[in-house]
Amino acid sequence: MTETTLQSAGVDSYRARTALQQPAWPDAEALASVTDRLAKVPPLVFAGEADVLREHLAAAGRGEAFVLQGGDCAETFEEATADRIRNKIKTILQMSVILTYGASTPVVKIGRMAGQYAKPRSSDTETRDGVTLPAYRGDIINGSAFTPEARIPDPERMLEAYHVSASTLNLIRAFTHGGFADLRSVHSWNKGFAANPAYAKYEQMAAQIDRAVRFMAAAGGDFDALKTVDLFSSHEALLLDYERALTRIDSRSGLAYDTSAHFVWIGERTRQLDGAHVEYMSRIHNPIGVKLGPTAQPSEALALAARLNPDNIPGRLTFVVRQGADKVRDNLPPLVEAVRDEGVVVTWLSDPMHGNTFTSESGYKTRRFETILDEVAGFFEVHAAAGTVPGGLLVELTGDDVTECLGGTEEIDDEGLARRYETKVDPRLNHQQSLEMAFKVSELLSQG
Ligand code: PEP
Ligand code: CO
Repeated sequence: MTETTLQSAGVDSYRARTALQQPAWPDAEALASVTDRLAKVPPLVFAGEADVLREHLAAAGRGEAFVLQGGDCAETFEEATADRIRNKIKTILQMSVILTYGASTPVVKIGRMAGQYAKPRSSDTETRDGVTLPAYRGDIINGSAFTPEARIPDPERMLEAYHVSASTLNLIRAFTHGGFADLRSVHSWNKGFAANPAYAKYEQMAAQIDRAVRFMAAAGGDFDALKTVDLFSSHEALLLDYERALTRIDSRSGLAYDTSAHFVWIGERTRQLDGAHVEYMSRIHNPIGVKLGPTAQPSEALALAARLNPDNIPGRLTFVVRQGADKVRDNLPPLVEAVRDEGVVVTWLSDPMHGNTFTSESGYKTRRFETILDEVAGFFEVHAAAGTVPGGLLVELTGDDVTECLGGTEEIDDEGLARRYETKVDPRLNHQQSLEMAFKVSELLSQG
């Protein structure tokens, strides 16, 4: 019955299209057995929650909220521990308080968490010391160890991804609704950060936030309401076998939703208008994103909006811009202006990470803190000039003290990268760099 309804909702139409970046599963029967099981598991998120997020994203599109989307480039099963998850949530909450102050609006918090397990790769293979193996495509597909066995795509991993996502979400819900997220404790962590002499330049803003928090308390602010926050989940909807298997019909509206996360997006490598990813995403009703890299043309942006949001529903479609700091000031204006002039409703986010990746002399894939910040500044400048709204920020971060991105006040340099470089895919801002980014962006926001 439900399967019939799903099919009439068109959720299988993508199968007739070309899907890039998919694994070559070696055993079709094993795959079918997994997707059959996944089709019966409880949803990870509810359609009603995704609808709430859509409203928040719509508000961000109007400048009445600011989005912070943060988390790992690629989550791993092994790192889904209570400590690591707590540290990440803590970092996102701390950044949110700083950004709330700068933006003077609520901050919509979205984790790249509880499902960010599939990765697009620029090459199907990886060669080390003359040995060539299939590329690592994320824990939901194969293992990162450089052995032939680990690199074989294994559909059972999709079941594990579902269970690890469920336990991660459970922790997220517990941490954000169980007292941990109280504004006063989050703020006191920030005070600890700004008290470090190295970060003295942020002390003034931290003191201003402190006064604001104390004023709210003195004025009888409703701290009950400030004890809990909503942290939504998101990931790139890359692996269509998984996303399709978690698609459900919402019993209230009769519409199809991808219940693997509240917000799902199409990556830069899979946003072809006639491709399978755009087709699948056109059939679900979650709020969705599309990455727009340096090759994206205004006509493509308009065509994507027409395909993915034909009714122009506010909050349904987010464009995530990842141009590179050296290109954003030239490439973004025509995109923003075309969308504005057509009256197309989108929420604009800046992803200042993916256009700014390079290999350091010491051989690490890295990004420079100052360049990341420059792309955000360019993003704000372009919107200010066009009279449009910079709706938020996507950051690859971790709550731990890794050394993967260069720069910041701690001045991680080329040699410093070796100290604690842990990411399986892209370099992440560490805890301190993330907070510093929030203070800097907050300054830009309050000037704007
Ligand atoms: C990512 O967000 O990790 C990613 C792969 O980005 P993009 O699709 O923009 O390259
Ligand atoms: Co990445």
